[in-house]
Amino acid sequence: MPRSAQPLTPPTPASEFAVDVLDGLTATPKTLPSKYFYDAEGSRLFDAITRLAAYYPTRVERAILTTHAAEIAAALGEETAMIEYGSGSSDKSRILLDALNGTRYRLAAYVPIDISPTALEEAAARLGARYPGLPVHPVAADYTQPFGLPELPPHRRRVVFFPGSTVGNFSTEQAEAFFRQAASVAGPGGALLIGADQAPGPTKPVEALLHAYDDPEGVTAAFNRNLLVRINRELGADIDLDAFAHEARWNAETCRIEMHLRSLRDQTAHVCGQAVSFRTDETIHTENSHKYGPDRLAALAAPAGFTRVARWTDPEAWFAVELYHTD
Ligand code: TRP
Repeated sequence: MPRSAQPLTPPTPASEFAVDVLDGLTATPKTLPSKYFYDAEGSRLFDAITRLAAYYPTRVERAILTTHAAEIAAALGEETAMIEYGSGSSDKSRILLDALNGTRYRLAAYVPIDISPTALEEAAARLGARYPGLPVHPVAADYTQPFGLPELPPHRRRVVFFPGSTVGNFSTEQAEAFFRQAASVAGPGGALLIGADQAPGPTKPVEALLHAYDDPEGVTAAFNRNLLVRINRELGADIDLDAFAHEARWNAETCRIEMHLRSLRDQTAHVCGQAVSFRTDETIHTENSHKYGPDRLAALAAPAGFTRVARWTDPEAWFAVELYHTD
């Protein structure tokens, strides 16, 4: 049966990886789905990225949350249940929880959603110990797919928290779908608190962006190349890791940073027994990170029924945290 034909049974996770990789490497231009970055080593490397001096988004977003925590808390209101998408270590929620704890704005419930059950369990255990009165309901799910939410008392306002400018990794269509899904989770009278890395401008040089995605320590390069390591290991491939260079590009037209793996020579690799050829300087496009002008996110969120009610930035406006209400 050709790979493009409809399989009679759903693919197993292992073969889904194989199919996605072969589809991507035989396409023009070549691509690989970014969701495969996050195996154990990839998650460790990403964690290291967020602590790099060069990677300002994490640091700046944390500073915004810390500086404006009281104001954000008041804007969220009382009796709020917070649902975090891609919670990981729940580090950023902890900034808000610390600020809200002991005030009348303390959260009524916290629902961390993450694809990694181990990260979730560890975070839930730590939060339980730190905030004894806080109901924590972890959900292990891929939030880009439909998932069930735990029962929450109906009178509580729901706020979806989506930090890290992860929305920027979506295509426009995926971002619009995300906003629709988030609006239905937040429900009437609900809210969305979202982090958005900002487009370059007079106070933000493109070089700062490129530096953030191509750090001098080479951690982002290792993170990007780890995709190939994973393909070699899990699919028995023979890709020459030294023959690919990490590349971060600014695409002004689409206002995004693109991550590529560039072939340093003409070469042929074998993936699942299939030959895949690369020309010198041909790239595998692995990720996009869209950057936003001041009103871009509001325009993307509006069709889902979200109205922006507040916006916080650092003094140079490199990063923004925005609050939306549902209709
Ligand atoms: N959401 C992060 C971002 O776009 C993800 C990220 C950071 C990333 N560094 C990366 C993704 C390097 C791929 C490669 O900023």
